[in-house]
Amino acid sequence: MKVAVLMGGWSNEREVSLTSGQGIAAALKRLGHDVYAVDMGRDVAAKLSEIKPDVVFNALHGTPGEDGTVQGMLDVLGVKYTHSGLATSVIAIDKELTKRILVPAGIRMPEGVVVESASVHDRDPLPRPYVLKPVNEGSSVGVAIVTDESNYGTPIAADAPGPWTQFAHLLAEPFIPGRELTVAVLDDEPLAVTELIPTRGFYDYDAKYTDGLTVHQCPAEIPEDVAAEAMAMALKAHRVLGCKGVSRSDFRYDESRGLAGLYLLEVNTQPGMTPLSLVPEQAKYCGIDYDTLVARILKDAA
Ligand code: DAL
Ligand code: MG
Repeated sequence: MKVAVLMGGWSNEREVSLTSGQGIAAALKRLGHDVYAVDMGRDVAAKLSEIKPDVVFNALHGTPGEDGTVQGMLDVLGVKYTHSGLATSVIAIDKELTKRILVPAGIRMPEGVVVESASVHDRDPLPRPYVLKPVNEGSSVGVAIVTDESNYGTPIAADAPGPWTQFAHLLAEPFIPGRELTVAVLDDEPLAVTELIPTRGFYDYDAKYTDGLTVHQCPAEIPEDVAAEAMAMALKAHRVLGCKGVSRSDFRYDESRGLAGLYLLEVNTQPGMTPLSLVPEQAKYCGIDYDTLVARILKDAA
């Protein structure tokens, strides 16, 4: 099959996407496909019209490959592609919009508020501790945990380095103490629960992509009912949003509150496929090697 792997692009996760894309392209070659690695630029439609792939394997992360833009372009071009379609991508990239769909469906998520970034210098949007994050970034780009006056000042100082200088709006959510969990869903089946244990600070961009900075405990050492609930929530989120192929749902778990302390934070429709990424790791735990995982995602292209 002729497969174009879209990777790179111009999002803040360009480097992550190149690493995901190179891994996927290598796997597709091992699987015997005719592979075209495409670093996505503004000329992508012209390139695809020239290559005429049977399928696009979407290895992009962030804007515009995860937010519906590329999906819409591929729909117009009439090219089949992996992962979620346009409407699902538009919703899932936006953490606030995701809540408007999933909370009424009965999925517990932190109650947040979207504020103009500049306003955080006048007043705290929520009682501390809280988390400030861009509404539509990935890989923890621009995430700040505001604890007390020791980190950013009270109110947050105008010259304190943080996402308020880069993004016009930010989502503020109460900080949920406890543990960081994630669940991948492949072909409508939850794979496993992984706990992410950063060796310092929180599970930020560096902790995600620097070998040795985070312990990945798979399966997570949590009570069975909590693991079952996390997998059920991830599957429900995947279905309610209409995800295709693969998704990965991220959670916080405040164990002092038992099952009521399990919160879904977001659903990733283009989860990382790098050597340190969580979906390949959970797949491996389930006996699905990297190449088979890639083949299964490819098979779901529509
Ligand atoms: N946004 C990154 C790639 C992830 O969710 O894995
Ligand atoms: Mg994300």
